[in-house]
Amino acid sequence: MYVCVCKAVTEREVHQAIRGGARSLRDLRSDLGIIEECGRCAGCARQCLRDAEAHASDASHPLHYAPPNLMLSEAV
Ligand code: FES
Repeated sequence: MYVCVCKAVTEREVHQAIRGGARSLRDLRSDLGIIEECGRCAGCARQCLRDAEAHASDASHPLHYAPPNLMLSEAV
């Protein structure tokens, strides 16, 4: 599924960026170029970050890849 239609960035690529260390919308924008055009992808990208945070301590969950101290920043 596409998260950012303007930049053709998929949910998989967003999760890869989070695994690679992205911790905020600003990080995702810097890493992937999302949220630079229309901005409609911000909500979905934020949800990806929240999912990562929610599953950060659940080692059995497929989204487990974030450190337990993951902190989300709302700053863009
Ligand atoms: S959908 Fe991401 S900037 Fe337009």
